[in-house]
Amino acid sequence: MTVAVIVVAAGSGERLGSTLPKAFVQVDSKTLLEHALEPIASLGKVDELVVVAPDSWVSPAGEMSGRLSGGNMAVSVVPGGPSRSDSVRRGLDAVGADASIVLIHDAARAFAPAEVFHRVIDAVEVGAAGVIPVREVADTVVPVDEDALTQQALPRDELRAVQTPQGFEAAALRSAYAAFDGEATDDAEVLRRAGHKVLSVEGHPHSHKITYPSDLEAVRARLSSRGDIRVGTAVDVHQFSDETSLVLGGMTFDGPGLSGHSDGDVILHAITDALLGAAGLGDLGTHFGTSRPEYSGARSTVFVKEALSVLGAAGFSPRSVSVQYVGNTPRLGERREEMSRQLSSLVGCAVHVSATTTDGLGLTGRGEGAAAIATALVEYQPGGKEASG
Ligand code: CTP
Ligand code: MG
Repeated sequence: MTVAVIVVAAGSGERLGSTLPKAFVQVDSKTLLEHALEPIASLGKVDELVVVAPDSWVSPAGEMSGRLSGGNMAVSVVPGGPSRSDSVRRGLDAVGADASIVLIHDAARAFAPAEVFHRVIDAVEVGAAGVIPVREVADTVVPVDEDALTQQALPRDELRAVQTPQGFEAAALRSAYAAFDGEATDDAEVLRRAGHKVLSVEGHPHSHKITYPSDLEAVRARLSSRGDIRVGTAVDVHQFSDETSLVLGGMTFDGPGLSGHSDGDVILHAITDALLGAAGLGDLGTHFGTSRPEYSGARSTVFVKEALSVLGAAGFSPRSVSVQYVGNTPRLGERREEMSRQLSSLVGCAVHVSATTTDGLGLTGRGEGAAAIATALVEYQPGGKEASG
């Protein structure tokens, strides 16, 4: 799968009332565009990035995108058009023909975290033509007519507020846009009009769109108030078994596997448990225990992702993870750095991996099994959820 991301940043930000175009307003010594690009570069699975900037901002936008350390991501910047839909069309024209998945993201949602990008990409990868992150609506919503008279309230339980990044099967998106010459405030609407189904996944309070000065104030306040740092620690142990293949830190190794309810990945289990423990939100057993048959044989990356959404919903963000593998085999050696990189992208913060043996002592020393011990730091921002949601 070739993944392209279009970031539309060509709006003027009239409602924000700034002299600079909105995407170039600074928060915490970086522009909103730079904040928006950061998680995209960290994903490790984006092949192409297209930034759509206002005409006279193409070159600064190019410098900002060029500073990203996103591995082998190809980056281009194109000028936008008078409306958001025009800007998306121009971005889409610049996406390479080999892209199979296209994400479209508003630079104005500059603080959308990596976990949302992962959820959207994962859902398109398993076959959805269109995927949007959504949030439940807190306010009662009513239609209003031109005389300011309100109509009956819409059923709030059925309503969702729509965010970006939105993800699409590339061919479906291209043909939907080719058949549409109007204006839409988001891209899923264009897909729906072409008759496609659009799936919703959980959005994030930090993906709130910066529209008014009060949105900017809220985000500045959130960033300047450092939350509580909490620590969690966890150990996981599994027995070696000839009947399974060996998966550690989400990567496959040669040799006997580790037995367990899922794929026996002690590294990911320890990380998941340490994250949940740091947040005081239970442990692997409470969330994914043997009483849940759907997790039998599951890849443990699922546990990490689900734990991250549980943390996110409760106002916690991972800040740092360290994990040590304890076992005679395999030698993590040359794959350790690659594992650290992949896990950092999965968890959304730096994840350091190390390994040790136990001098031939104990169950790991005798080669009966393997263990991992993890420590996680998470930040809790009370009210962070509401403040920006
Ligand atoms: N956008 C764009 N080209 C346009 C208009 C909007 O690329 N002609 C982008 C914006 O940069 C933003 C996203 O679309 O990232 C969502 O638009 P919005 O929040 O409405 O931003 P602005 O149009 O800049 O703000 P305003 O409507 O207040 O002028
Ligand atoms: Mg606008």
